[in-house]
Amino acid sequence: MSDPSKVAVVGAGRVGSTFAYVLAASGLVREVVLVDADTARAEGEAMDIAHAVPFHRPVQVRPGTLEDTRGAIATVITAGAAQVPGEPRPALLKRNVEALRGILSATVQANPQGLLLIATNPVDALTHAAVRISGLPPARVIGSGTVLDSSRLRAELSQRYGVDPRNVHAYVLGEHGDTEVVAWSTATLGNMALPDYCALAGMACTPADLAQVAATVRDAAYEIIRRKGATNFAIAAALMRIVEAVVRDEGSVLTVSSLVQGAYGIRDVCLSLPTVVGRTGVRRVLPVPLAAAEEAALRRSADAIRAAVNALA
Ligand SMILES: NC(=O)c1ccc[n+]([C@@H]2O[C@H](COP(=O)([O-])OP(=O)(O)OC[C@H]3O[C@@H](n4cnc5c(N)ncnc54)[C@H](O)[C@@H]3O)[C@@H](O)[C@H]2O)c1
Repeated sequence: MSDPSKVAVVGAGRVGSTFAYVLAASGLVREVVLVDADTARAEGEAMDIAHAVPFHRPVQVRPGTLEDTRGAIATVITAGAAQVPGEPRPALLKRNVEALRGILSATVQANPQGLLLIATNPVDALTHAAVRISGLPPARVIGSGTVLDSSRLRAELSQRYGVDPRNVHAYVLGEHGDTEVVAWSTATLGNMALPDYCALAGMACTPADLAQVAATVRDAAYEIIRRKGATNFAIAAALMRIVEAVVRDEGSVLTVSSLVQGAYGIRDVCLSLPTVVGRTGVRRVLPVPLAAAEEAALRRSADAIRAAVNALA
């Protein structure tokens, strides 16, 4: 039986430790276990986060081994090499699949009932690898996918059009990476279609404007990595949002990556679509109506992920 008050984090680097801190500060769970191949790192991060607990609600934050993922409702995997400046995500795949293989064999043995949440890049191909390696029901293997990119899109639209990001509903779909697709046809601000809002507010949202927004969102990781070497805060918040949906069984619609079997004619590939997420992982993938060009771009994105996965074999 999984314990909804326990979450394990494998990889205590910049992403894993930032997420562990956000999780510990949230009061959502009672136990956070941090695992890293570098045991001193996991110990140091757990100690540091634990010392913040008196400012928050009680939670045990401790270092552990993969065996200590036992019983966790979710094991969040952020272990592996990070993108180096200018490096395309597919180049990371080979080395990170090998690391994942070792992590999953021990984790699934210790925690066969738990859910896996993959954040390590390239996240879609690694989520696919995790489905295959783990042997878990695919609904229990999810990737952070474009939850982060959708947040970046909402932040960008919020700034540009002066609307609270919580009232901006807009999705990035497909690959978390260069072929990602903005579903402009579903984007709304306060329930108004984006072009209608722009007309009302006397603001421009020409195809060129929207293409510029999409490019800014797509290239955000490169821009941040160029400046500070890595990204950690927004991905930690994205992981927090997904874990919250799981722990509280919220049925939240999030653009997580999961094994797609048929939507838009796409099969046997992990990518992001609007997905109802709860305690059992993927409850349902929502094939929202898209414009023909968006559907075509989504299929191209699926092909790119599939090509990366096939190149592994
Ligand atoms: N999905 C997203 O949206 C998103 C966003 C940001 C970063 N990332 C990815 O997250 C991953 C981690 O990034 P980071 O900046 O935290 O890197 P990092 O180098 O700071 O940390 C990675 C950690 O993984 C550990 N590790 C490596 N192999 C391991 C293994 N086999 N078992 C246990 N621990 C192991 C390392 O010791 C290190 O502490 C990268 O792949 C990065 O590209 C994903």
